[in-house]
Amino acid sequence: MSLLKVMCVAGARPNFMKIAPLMEELERQQGIRPVLVHTGQHYDKAMSKLFFEELGIPAPHFNLEVGSASHAVQTARIMERFEDVLVKENPNLVIVVGDVNSTFGCALTAVKLKIAVAHVEAGLRSFDRTMPEEINRVLTDAISDFLFTTERCAETNLLREGIPQDKIYFVGNVMVDTLLKHKAKADVSNISLRLGIDKKSYGLVTLHRPSNVECKDTLKSIFYALRELSSKVLIIFPCHPRTQEKIREYNLEYLVNSDERKVKEGWINLIAPLGYLDFLKLMTEAKVVLTDSGGIQEETTILGIPCITMRNNTERPVTVLEGTNTLVGTEKNRIVEKASEVLNGYIPTGRRPELWDGRASERIVRVLMELLKR
Ligand code: UD1
Repeated sequence: MSLLKVMCVAGARPNFMKIAPLMEELERQQGIRPVLVHTGQHYDKAMSKLFFEELGIPAPHFNLEVGSASHAVQTARIMERFEDVLVKENPNLVIVVGDVNSTFGCALTAVKLKIAVAHVEAGLRSFDRTMPEEINRVLTDAISDFLFTTERCAETNLLREGIPQDKIYFVGNVMVDTLLKHKAKADVSNISLRLGIDKKSYGLVTLHRPSNVECKDTLKSIFYALRELSSKVLIIFPCHPRTQEKIREYNLEYLVNSDERKVKEGWINLIAPLGYLDFLKLMTEAKVVLTDSGGIQEETTILGIPCITMRNNTERPVTVLEGTNTLVGTEKNRIVEKASEVLNGYIPTGRRPELWDGRASERIVRVLMELLKR
């Protein structure tokens, strides 16, 4: 019997924890040859290689090395280079995850060559078309053949957009597979020791959405809120390269302490981006997490850690309805008010969303095996 070739695509940091359990599950199957393509959208060691090492993802068979550029140039480079790989390899199926430019660029390239595409994490909608990821989500879902969803409302969104029911599979959340698998390893990370911080003594911050960091007034408003909160709780902020650039450009350095060896009360303590295990450890022991990331809203829900999301919308409503997430927007007083409630002991109690049980990749691969056999 000839092997079925399944090509998995990853490109940016939030893809790596999603592709890891899928590659592992595919490798377990007889009759399947998984092939991994890294587009190179993220390339710094801390944004890419570290995740491969920590999560045991096999070295990519192909690295497209597209690097950073404008959206059009980056997506075009992804498509041009991915097309060469597809023509050479002619896989039976392409799996894309999440909502980054690599997700959409590779899905579009594959369908134009009449290669079937599976989208993992389909149907999430913020209904905010100014978000580049929202455009990637809508377009990827519109052209994919098999849509795997993480929460019930994703199916409703897809049906509303005219996607036929029989393309949609509710399977749970592959990111949770990775979190549960690596939690014990993260627990023994020495990151708190390295930073000299105690359990439950700090607020953990991440911030990188263009709408937050590419507008000086918004970034300032968030930073003023964090500075105010820093008088109540130590603030630790592993900082995305884009945000670091903007802090310099907008002359906001006077608000931050960038000396990692000496984190200080009363400051926003900026540290370099962390690997998966160190970051998971810091989330687990944080008193509160403040973020604009999508994935972190889900991870804190699983960990039962209060999450303050500095955005006006979320594409992951189950984290608010059932989890520990609160949407607060970007206005200074509102961020301070909601984070202070948590610091004063109002801790939202969440429950684990349906099928977020560590077995999503198993379900996805089972469905795909059935479909590929037809
Ligand atoms: C991308 C995703 C976003 C995701 C985020 C996670 C899109 C449209 N956006 O945004 O959904 O939440 O990744 O990080 O795909 N840079 C480096 N080193 C790197 C990567 C980036 O220095 O390894 C810097 C470059 O200056 C680059 C900037 O970060 O221009 C932005 O990178 P890019 O991949 O374009 O978007 P992200 O903001 O990372």
